[in-house]
Amino acid sequence: MTPLIALAELGSKPVRVEHGMLDLVLVRQGDEVFALEDRCSHGDVPLSEGEFAKGRLECWLHGSTFDVRTGAPTCPPAVAPVRTFPVTIDDVDGTPTVFVEIG
Ligand code: FES
Repeated sequence: MTPLIALAELGSKPVRVEHGMLDLVLVRQGDEVFALEDRCSHGDVPLSEGEFAKGRLECWLHGSTFDVRTGAPTCPPAVAPVRTFPVTIDDVDGTPTVFVEIG
């Protein structure tokens, strides 16, 4: 796995990172980090430009929200899930760092 970003760089806002051919959006909730594909399942827009609160990432275009643990839509108009990926946080030279596993 490739280290993507230092944990300290993640705050309350979604962060877009590139991982190979994929664009990911990372969100942090306390000590947990979640990784989703950075594309709304309803339209081809990046979710990283939306808002994150209470475990849900909101698409800025039409307002669908997605559960960041499962990628499932929790509010219309989106009906399809967004891909999610396992996240690991590990030390790299003493710095907690986020790793994402792409299956
Ligand atoms: S493009 Fe995201 S809800 Fe429509």
